[in-house]
Amino acid sequence: MGDVRFDGRVAIITGAGGGLGREHALLLGSRGAAVVINDLGGNADGTGSGQSAADLVVKEISEAGGQAVANYDSVTTPEGGEAIVKAALDTFGQVDIVINNAGILRDRSFPKLPPADLEAVLDVHLKGAFFVSQPAFRFMKERGGYGRFVFTASAAGIFGNFGQANYGAAKMGLVGLSNVLAQEGAKYNILSNVIAPIAQTRLLGELLGPFADKLQPAQISGIVAYLCSEDSTLTHEIFSVGGGRIARIFVGLTPGWFGGVGSVPTPEEVRDNLDQIRDPNGYIIPDSAAAEMAAAVPLLTS
Ligand code: NAI
Repeated sequence: MGDVRFDGRVAIITGAGGGLGREHALLLGSRGAAVVINDLGGNADGTGSGQSAADLVVKEISEAGGQAVANYDSVTTPEGGEAIVKAALDTFGQVDIVINNAGILRDRSFPKLPPADLEAVLDVHLKGAFFVSQPAFRFMKERGGYGRFVFTASAAGIFGNFGQANYGAAKMGLVGLSNVLAQEGAKYNILSNVIAPIAQTRLLGELLGPFADKLQPAQISGIVAYLCSEDSTLTHEIFSVGGGRIARIFVGLTPGWFGGVGSVPTPEEVRDNLDQIRDPNGYIIPDSAAAEMAAAVPLLTS
């Protein structure tokens, strides 16, 4: 099999002025994609703005012989999302790939988390990904034939992390968003997947301690590029990525316990059957809500 290439493809990468987004952009740009380098250019807490981060990445890609254009809109509004997609359409005539990567942090323990820090984090991560993806999805669906979305979630939401109630909620929200896009996009070859990365960037600061130099941003981009490529048929999946390891994360459904058709489980029955309810043996990985329902149908018709 040949190299994974993106010739003739147009990619939007949000938050591509630094960290992980920059690495994704350099990789896709080096393999033939025309790239929209979106970045608001602010601080890690979402304050401030500036154009130099995006400009520098455009310069790097251009100097290496690739094609890129900068965009400085914030992902946080419908207008911003539209403008980012318009930058791709106006400059390169199409959009094939969206990598939702822009992110900020406002960590506080749950009792101390002010509403403004919930809003700011949901705005960038969850609503931002929605606002950029929606106009891109519309274009891909109307044109037909191809579309790739990658959403950047986090172990903080999928598994939970102290002090990140706002961030964890936003990141797990992205899993739901990606899963629905996977359903709605299936018949148009629009595929959608999620990564939960770990790498040393400004967002993590000193958090990784002695592991920092073993967790490089470039180590995240290989799977992101693969998921955006024609080679990939994966959709509705989640991957843990970092330090050179790539692993699948999934939401499974256990066979569970069944009290009989028409039964109304009592609290005592729940207590007495917990082992069977929770036993992971024989689990399945439903790829839709309908697939979860299908697992119950044989019981209901027995
Ligand atoms: P980073 O701070 O280097 O990159 C984030 C970029 O997003 C910045 O360049 C920033 O200017 C941009 N951005 C922020 N708000 C924006 C907005 N409203 N509109 C457009 N751009 C905006 O941090 P990093 O680590 O590269 O983060 C990339 C993504 O990966 C984020 O979504 C983050 O939550 C996620 N992530 C990172 C992890 C890590 O270990 N570094 C762990 C889990 C998730």
